[in-house]
Amino acid sequence: MDKKVYELLNQQVNKEFYSAYLYLDFSNYFKSKGLDGFANWYLIQAQEERDHAMLFYQYLQNENQSVSLEAIAKPDKVFESGMDVLKAGLAHEEYVTSLINDIYSAASEVKDYRTMQFLDWFVKEQGEEEMNANGLISKMELFGFDPRSLYMLDQELGARVYSAPSLVL
Ligand code: FEO
Repeated sequence: MDKKVYELLNQQVNKEFYSAYLYLDFSNYFKSKGLDGFANWYLIQAQEERDHAMLFYQYLQNENQSVSLEAIAKPDKVFESGMDVLKAGLAHEEYVTSLINDIYSAASEVKDYRTMQFLDWFVKEQGEEEMNANGLISKMELFGFDPRSLYMLDQELGARVYSAPSLVL
């Protein structure tokens, strides 16, 4: 495997685990505010990010590459409001999209078609991640400032259940 492609894929293992950490922190924030539905939504989001990390981990191993696990950064943002958290979530997903695109570009440059095919799932997934993050912001704008509506929105987010990723390696 090309060195740059390897390094970016290996780094992505860490980035995805960081995403899981970040969303656990978001879940923690909402739990502390009594919004258990929002907390549930981000707890499941954290599980999905762990799955993403493991997909990169597994892909590298399948390609006979050893994985180098690095320290996971501390999520250290202080939030003023729930809306702040949701906006940070969208910004984070946009950042992750840029990382996936960078790996895709590096793989494309060296004609690493297998890595490009592996990444196709993540390209689509990032579209969904950004759509979901945008959707949460829109709902919060519409319903977040009235306690009764916020309660119902929280109930809706509390109904989210975890499902394993559709990509199997
Ligand atoms: Fe791993 Fe939220 O994308």
